[in-house]
Amino acid sequence: MAPSDRTRFAPNSAAARDIEYYLHPFTNLKAHEENGPLIVNEGKGVYVYDDQGNEIIEGMAGLWCTSLGFGEERLAKVAYDQMLKLPYMQGFTHRSNEVAIDLAEKLISIAPGNMGKVFFTNSGSEANDTQIKIVWYYNNALGRPEKKKIIGRHKAYHGITLAAASLSGVEYAHKGFDVPLDRFLHTRTPHFWREGLDGETEDEFSTRLAQELDDMIVAEGPDTVAAFIAEPVMGAGGLITPPTGYFPKIQAVLKKHDVLMIADEVITGFMRTGNMFGSETYDIQPDLISIAKALSSAYLPIGGVMISNEVYEVLREGGDKFGMWNTGYTYSGHPVSAAVALETLSIYEERNLLGHVRSMMGTFQEQMAQFADHPLVGEVRGVGLFAAMELTPDPENKGSFDPAHKIAPGMVARAQAHGLIMRALPSDSVALCPPLIINEDEIGMCIERAGKALDETWDFVQSEGLV
Ligand SMILES: Cc1ncc(COP(=O)(O)O)c(C=O)c1O
Repeated sequence: MAPSDRTRFAPNSAAARDIEYYLHPFTNLKAHEENGPLIVNEGKGVYVYDDQGNEIIEGMAGLWCTSLGFGEERLAKVAYDQMLKLPYMQGFTHRSNEVAIDLAEKLISIAPGNMGKVFFTNSGSEANDTQIKIVWYYNNALGRPEKKKIIGRHKAYHGITLAAASLSGVEYAHKGFDVPLDRFLHTRTPHFWREGLDGETEDEFSTRLAQELDDMIVAEGPDTVAAFIAEPVMGAGGLITPPTGYFPKIQAVLKKHDVLMIADEVITGFMRTGNMFGSETYDIQPDLISIAKALSSAYLPIGGVMISNEVYEVLREGGDKFGMWNTGYTYSGHPVSAAVALETLSIYEERNLLGHVRSMMGTFQEQMAQFADHPLVGEVRGVGLFAAMELTPDPENKGSFDPAHKIAPGMVARAQAHGLIMRALPSDSVALCPPLIINEDEIGMCIERAGKALDETWDFVQSEGLV
């Protein structure tokens, strides 16, 4: 049967053509044929407008990326000007362009820790894929060919190329795709509310997780473990903030076994946690950092890896063994993407967006925290301008709904009907992570709409006898 015969949408409508031709990323294929797409063709500020004329608050800043919201003319202009001046220049074999140079210099000036170099990619997945190559090359250069395993965490999300999906610990990234590949391991999710033991403090929980990591490295053989990768705050796996003391304890273990620390700042980078980088918020001293998304406010695709001086020195010396540094993308350091990223960083500074985020995040977190008393909510968690609530049939005992009931996706659909985009995450968590430019009134509107969706979901859960 042709897809067009399976839909209720008018022939030749945008929805019908979408169903006919467009294979969407991360979409339930059969449900898509049934329900059709949300088609958005315009945006302004924190709002997007669907093809039915509805105004919707983009409460997820796209996929945690449109930090400056929609319709930022300066970014459009800089892209236009750059396209006319120099639309493309390769970065291979010693070729360069001044915009990419300026961007690399700027990034190093704001990076946490001792970062010395930037390698450009087109996305967060490519950044993390590159991290793996850097780590493997690094150990080959040091004459440690066995030291190659990389430890991630269950529920982590690091992207979706074969290797990045292997770093990811969310089950949905693995099912049906024959990943994770060999050499990728996963340790416990640092989610105190779900994983903490009775009577255990957050700090004790962090100590236990560090011990488990130590045990895992020892069991695998420290000579075989190359790196640990972590999002400062786990995003797509449930928006999980780390427990007290977690990263310093984890890093002590990594140091002991000479294991590199990769901070995946693809979501947390560029102020989302209330600091320029999540590493600053959580006392992380990374050897390598992945960035993307808010680097360009998503106006054009660009990502990158920031590399510490110490790691770079080893890569440099590796050249004596392996010749050229033979990795890179056609679009690494693309001048138009670089120009948009550079302008994005300028706007952040000129408008003191960091100050704005800090002045909004208290209100945002307080208003989200009100949902903690709702009978359907087990936990509200968040930091800076991102937050989530975890829905449960039994907050006291932290019960879970059968995923077949799709409770979180149901709430997200109700929120959308009220004009708010939210996102359903694993374990029936529902996230709200608006553009960083959001103001107090708009935060209020988000909370009001989320509240309506939550109440209606509670009505549904009761009427279906699910509690
Ligand atoms: C923490 C993290 N790392 C990596 C990625 C992958 O980025 P991309 O979708 O640009 O490949 C994502 C995407 O959401 C992410 O959240």
